[in-house]
Amino acid sequence: MNYIELENEYGAHNYDPLPVVLEKGMGVFVWDTEGKRYYDFLAAYSAVNQGHCHPKILKALHEQADKLTLTSRAFHNNVLGPYEKYICQYFGYDRVLPVNTGVEGGETALKLCRKWAYQVKGIEENKAKIVFAEGNFWGRTLAAVSSSTDPDSYKNFGPYMPGFDIVPYNDLEALEKSLSKKNVAGFMVEPIQGEAGIVVPDEGYLTEIRNMCTRFNVLFIADEIQTGLGRTGKLLACDYEGVKPDILILGKALSGGTIPVSAVLCNDEIMLTLKPGQHGSTYGGNPLGCAVAMAALEVLKEENLAQNAEELGHIFRAEMEAIESPIIAEVRGKGLFNAIVVRPFGNGKTAKDVCVALMRKGLLAKQTHDHIIRFAPPLVITKDQLLEACEIIKDVILRILVPEKIEDHALTNSK
Ligand SMILES: Cc1ncc(COP(=O)(O)O)c(C=O)c1O
Repeated sequence: MNYIELENEYGAHNYDPLPVVLEKGMGVFVWDTEGKRYYDFLAAYSAVNQGHCHPKILKALHEQADKLTLTSRAFHNNVLGPYEKYICQYFGYDRVLPVNTGVEGGETALKLCRKWAYQVKGIEENKAKIVFAEGNFWGRTLAAVSSSTDPDSYKNFGPYMPGFDIVPYNDLEALEKSLSKKNVAGFMVEPIQGEAGIVVPDEGYLTEIRNMCTRFNVLFIADEIQTGLGRTGKLLACDYEGVKPDILILGKALSGGTIPVSAVLCNDEIMLTLKPGQHGSTYGGNPLGCAVAMAALEVLKEENLAQNAEELGHIFRAEMEAIESPIIAEVRGKGLFNAIVVRPFGNGKTAKDVCVALMRKGLLAKQTHDHIIRFAPPLVITKDQLLEACEIIKDVILRILVPEKIEDHALTNSK
């Protein structure tokens, strides 16, 4: 069956995937329908930090699926409470609001921020402003694209959500100016910008955000949907500077790549502004998601995945920096959240051409924009696996200027 043709014929054309059809995954590897094995260096945009089909997470999924999957919040279930206690204690917040996809987590955080602005801070109704950083990405809803500075995201989707302000990322002066204005309720920011191309801010940026938000009585909303849960070498990227956001948004790896589970955490003063009927979702807090999320969080700790990401991240960047190729403009990142910035080469070739060559050699990575390749493998990767993957990347980058030299990696029979 031609799976790619089927998608092309019957699906919306809102993605541009690499031409590979996957049917199986285990740990750091995925296999295509021909049985060829690949290193997965995207990890489903960091949703698979614990590795594909992690046995403990699958066990929790199967056991809960056999008992009860969904009640809606019209009734209680016997997993939601234990999960809420577990995740609140895990991250040190009073309360959690469970939702599904990451973008719903963002929407939830913004609604909480606006409620808090009117009920606690005392901003006049409908006047609250929320500040975002240029280059942010937090999803595809109308609110998310309204705060986006990427024309691909927002163009032709107007009219846009009012009450949003944009400041340059990693620019404390601009942030201070913006936060000091009247009616500012919150600043929502990724501690490292993911979709913008793994943009790491200067040291001290997060600390100053925390200080300024406190000074201006503005909520610091950290979108750790991609950077959280071990990815950058700490449990949260905010932990690098020991700062605690007022609202923390988690998603992706919260379910280890099984089903959509996201969470918004904050303290009573903010969370208790919401009353019954004012926010929710049919699937939010479903017992299946709660059981899976507890297992996914346990795996992070039991397997020291943040520490592994920290250690192997140094090795990865050193290996990449050692590649002597005119096409590499920059290597950057933290933990196992890294990117190579590629200079244009070979008459208009882009990062996508490198990704296609990597795919042929047995490693899957995805470009972001035209010139950046993100490398973010599952955090269960071992040092030997990482070094083998680095060899593949090195080989491809050194040969990409003479592409006929890149032959297909031999098919493995390890299906
Ligand atoms: C930082 C960040 N926030 C939010 C989202 C949205 O998550 P989802 O695609 O699950 O809605 C993403 C997705 O890539 C993200 O990277």
